[in-house]
Amino acid sequence: MELKVVPLHLNKKYLSECCKLINDEWKRSDTARLRSLESSSDSLPTSLILLRNDEIIGHLKLSPIPSIRDGCFVESVVIEKGLRGKGFGRLLMEKAEEYCKNFLQLKTIYLSTKGQEGFYNKLGYMECQPISIYGNCMPLTSTINCKNENKTKED
Ligand code: ACO
Repeated sequence: MELKVVPLHLNKKYLSECCKLINDEWKRSDTARLRSLESSSDSLPTSLILLRNDEIIGHLKLSPIPSIRDGCFVESVVIEKGLRGKGFGRLLMEKAEEYCKNFLQLKTIYLSTKGQEGFYNKLGYMECQPISIYGNCMPLTSTINCKNENKTKED
């Protein structure tokens, strides 16, 4: 089984399948979803996809945080429904962390979840103070987890 995590904008043939994967979880118009996915680039925002034998089975989006230049916000993390609980979510997140650290030179990954705290805790994420991802005017109200890439889990 070949597994790889690659940027969507360098693999555009997966655009419509990626749109379907995300919309199967969070319904939105295909037009709006495609527009969002088409904004993926080498600088943030970036959509990363998990491919298994050339079939797309996972997605996440890395978005910029205007007030935190050396961090990013991870959202729309999703694994195909029939393939959950097999380690693919962990693999996707770990590869995304490597990409953030090595390619984007970022130090901290932030995310917000209501319901998947257990998954992110397993991956080493900790609750932190709320941050604003839209400049200075809209503080987040849901649980925020963050992970400082300068620290290893053993630190
Ligand atoms: N609670 C506690 N532990 C969990 C949970 C959970 N809800 N989900 C997974 N885990 C654990 C697993 O048992 C596993 O533990 P182990 O390594 O000790 O065996 C570890 O976390 C990794 O689990 P995976 O099998 O890699 O997780 P999976 O492939 O199912 O992916 C995901 C997790 C992405 C949350 C998937 O279930 C999914 O797509 N859910 C629906 C969409 C969703 O809610 N996405 C998250 C939105 S939040 C955001 O985007 C920031």
